[in-house]
Amino acid sequence: MTVDSPNDLAALKRIGRIVGQALKEMREAVKPGVTTAELDAIGAAVLKRSGARSAPQLAYNFPGATCISINNEAAHGIPGSRKIQPGDLVNLDVSAELGGYFADAATMVAVPPVDTLRHNLVISTQRALQKSINAARAGARFNAIGRAIEQEAQASGFNTLHDLGGHGVGRGIHEEPHNITCYYNPADKRILKEGTVLTIEPFLTTGAEFVYTAPDGWTLMTRDGSLSAQFEHTLVITQGKPVVITAF
Ligand code: CO
Ligand code: CO
Repeated sequence: MTVDSPNDLAALKRIGRIVGQALKEMREAVKPGVTTAELDAIGAAVLKRSGARSAPQLAYNFPGATCISINNEAAHGIPGSRKIQPGDLVNLDVSAELGGYFADAATMVAVPPVDTLRHNLVISTQRALQKSINAARAGARFNAIGRAIEQEAQASGFNTLHDLGGHGVGRGIHEEPHNITCYYNPADKRILKEGTVLTIEPFLTTGAEFVYTAPDGWTLMTRDGSLSAQFEHTLVITQGKPVVITAF
């Protein structure tokens, strides 16, 4: 969507705060022995008490309120009986709707003790998010986002997923503009416009450039078992720094 009134912005900020709060409470609960279903229930409770609805449930009948993806799972992991283990890389991705407005964000928890590779993957992905947010402003090309992500990944010895990335959001969970890639695509001539609401979500891996869908029909995994990390914010494009609406 495009923000064209203070009302739009206020409504987006409302759902953005709720998504951020869900991620914060889920993060704090990640520890060895807790199941992903228990983490999901924490996120679901935040949405419920705020009057918000899970976007993946609403839009796709996803079998969980939130997506929880571990290690070689890149996205859309189904919450269940799996227990968090020491050394796990846990991706928490929450998207939700309130009053017809949607926001989408994700974070990572590296469960101690983590080796240097895992630590670096998480730190580099977080840096990729910050750098690509800084590159996103009205008048710049869309591919400035992918370029910033790819440059950070390569400088740290990592790859990026070529089949996952950011998207428009606001009145739906996935809407125009689509295909905001995690790599530099010189053929992408689109220009970022003021007021456009989108997600930036770098996916960095220790090897893979593509994912496949697991037999459960949802989970997107690396085929070679390489690790994946992703951070995500929903933001509004402006002439200057974007307005991040899912900060927490
Ligand atoms: Co997301
Ligand atoms: Co997203």
